[in-house]
Amino acid sequence: VRIVQLSDTHVSSRGGITQTNLERLIRHINHDLKPDLVVHTGDVIALRPGTTSDWLNAKRLLDLLEASYLVVPGNHDLGQPGPEPWEGLGCKDGYADAFRAVFGDIPWLRILDDDWAAVGVADTIMGSGIEDERLQWAWLEEVIPSITSRYVMLFSHKPVWSPLPDGQWVGQIGFAPEHAERLLQLFRPGQLRVVSNGHLHRYRYQQRGDIVEIWCPATSNAVKGDKPDMPFPAALKQVGVVELRLLDGSVDAYFRSVADVVEMELLTIPEIRDELEEIKRGVAAS
Ligand SMILES: [Fe+2]
Ligand SMILES: [Fe+2]
Repeated sequence: VRIVQLSDTHVSSRGGITQTNLERLIRHINHDLKPDLVVHTGDVIALRPGTTSDWLNAKRLLDLLEASYLVVPGNHDLGQPGPEPWEGLGCKDGYADAFRAVFGDIPWLRILDDDWAAVGVADTIMGSGIEDERLQWAWLEEVIPSITSRYVMLFSHKPVWSPLPDGQWVGQIGFAPEHAERLLQLFRPGQLRVVSNGHLHRYRYQQRGDIVEIWCPATSNAVKGDKPDMPFPAALKQVGVVELRLLDGSVDAYFRSVADVVEMELLTIPEIRDELEEIKRGVAAS
């Protein structure tokens, strides 16, 4: 089984570079990579959670994929939990149902073959206190024990483990430690073999005991500089996708891209910058 993971498409119904980059990478996926399945690990739309017009525009683009695809929502799809979400864009009841109406069920389980299953989790609602969070935990606690005969690949938006070298947890950068622990203890020892996320807009492959941890890069943009208070370890800061090839109990992962993508900081892309200005000015979604 071959899977292509893409992430952080940040596409807007205004068009622009994030859209042309996605179109170029979809052509590469269809013509060259030809996977059995595509998984999108969130931040489907530009910036503003719950914007159905942007989700529908993104779906129109993703439907160009010749393989079937599954989507995990990111913080820019369903909002951020907690009292101080970025630019006030918090999780709200109703966003998850609106997302499902466009992209299908979340969380999700896909049986891949006799040996492997994939699970997609909407981690951005963890800690929000909304009803969807309670329902998701109930689903995970029922479904994961039902697939103990298979190895599992887990797809989330944020990284399960702190991405910072000393393991510190800063703001909304990854799973809160209590949510990571609650999720990981649902798997039997040795069952979870791949944990792959988006959100960081970087590519990295790392072995953690039995588990391969992958950071999938963004298709939208490349990070240019790091903030001094977030000392990320070395990682590839390029626009691209990840190809995952299932092996006997493990995976091989490859960064894939094409030469004609445009690499810019997200908030300097004109359409994204304009939308951020509107959010800051309190302009309602169009
Ligand atoms: Fe993102
Ligand atoms: Fe994100």
